Amino acid sequence: MLSHFDMEKHRAVLSVGQVCADLITLCDEYPEEDAQVRVETQYWQRGGNAGNVAEVLSHLGTQAEFFGTFPNVKKMRPAILGGAAAAKFCLSELDRAGVDYSHIARKQCEDFPSSSILLSDKTGTRTIAHYRGPLDELTISDFSVLDFKEYSWIHFEGRGNVETIASAIEMASTSTASMSPTERTKLSVELELARHDDLMHSCKSVDLVVVSRYFAKHRGFRTAIECVEGMKTFLKPRAEIVCSWGEAGAACATNIIGDKAVLIPATKPEKVADTLGAGDTFQAALIHARLHDLSLENSVKYACKVASKKISARGYNAVKGMGL
Ligand code: FRU
Repeated sequence: MLSHFDMEKHRAVLSVGQVCADLITLCDEYPEEDAQVRVETQYWQRGGNAGNVAEVLSHLGTQAEFFGTFPNVKKMRPAILGGAAAAKFCLSELDRAGVDYSHIARKQCEDFPSSSILLSDKTGTRTIAHYRGPLDELTISDFSVLDFKEYSWIHFEGRGNVETIASAIEMASTSTASMSPTERTKLSVELELARHDDLMHSCKSVDLVVVSRYFAKHRGFRTAIECVEGMKTFLKPRAEIVCSWGEAGAACATNIIGDKAVLIPATKPEKVADTLGAGDTFQAALIHARLHDLSLENSVKYACKVASKKISARGYNAVKGMGL
């Protein structure tokens, strides 16, 4: 019998949110404030949750498209970080990863979002100083270029323009509702930061909600299981929720009466080389696995494995070949 994925492989996953440039500095250990230190290495990487999710999906063998705002490169300031060079670099990195970005919403803006990131070799932490700058976020009219039905799955990064994201989720949900159950475009949303509180209302319109540890703690939950049990009732019937909790693993449940939250232990990485984007990698692997009809529990196990592999090496290339 054909799996859901076999039927769906011609339809891409759309990853909605941000792409930015990450300037990564690898230090032996996190420096003291006002110190001057020599570091091991410094390099650029394309970043942004939605861009990261799209790249990992593509490495796993699922066609992916990034959708978000992007400046008109020709009209940007020529600066390297936060300017035209960073923007061009990010587009070429999406090309390299095989990620489509043909629908991006071009905005007039001289600056490009970028992050300065300190990776500590000693503890594996990543400290992010993010500059969003004046680049406009997506507006609801930007979504009019999309035909939601063309995608097998649409994943929304949690961002500050909560109202627009919530409206776009509603639009996508309404316009795909009449599709046959096997073909219907699946929708998911990420709740990552405290400012995503208002996205809680969107939980009732998606098939999968992915909650970060930060968001769970902000809502007063002490463990992943507590979060999943506590938030399950916000979902529509049969929808799924996953809460990842770093080294403590991830919990998941389906909103069906009697379904209990299950905790999946984290997979220990061979070494901790780079935790940047581990959460995004987890989400991409989860979507990839659900599209391959793995059960929710097995999908979370798989996502833990892929995230662990990502952590053991710098960047996202290490997950290549881990596709199902
Ligand atoms: C990782 C990440 C980085 C980016 C930052 C933006 O999840 O997407 O690539 O700099 O978060 O908040």
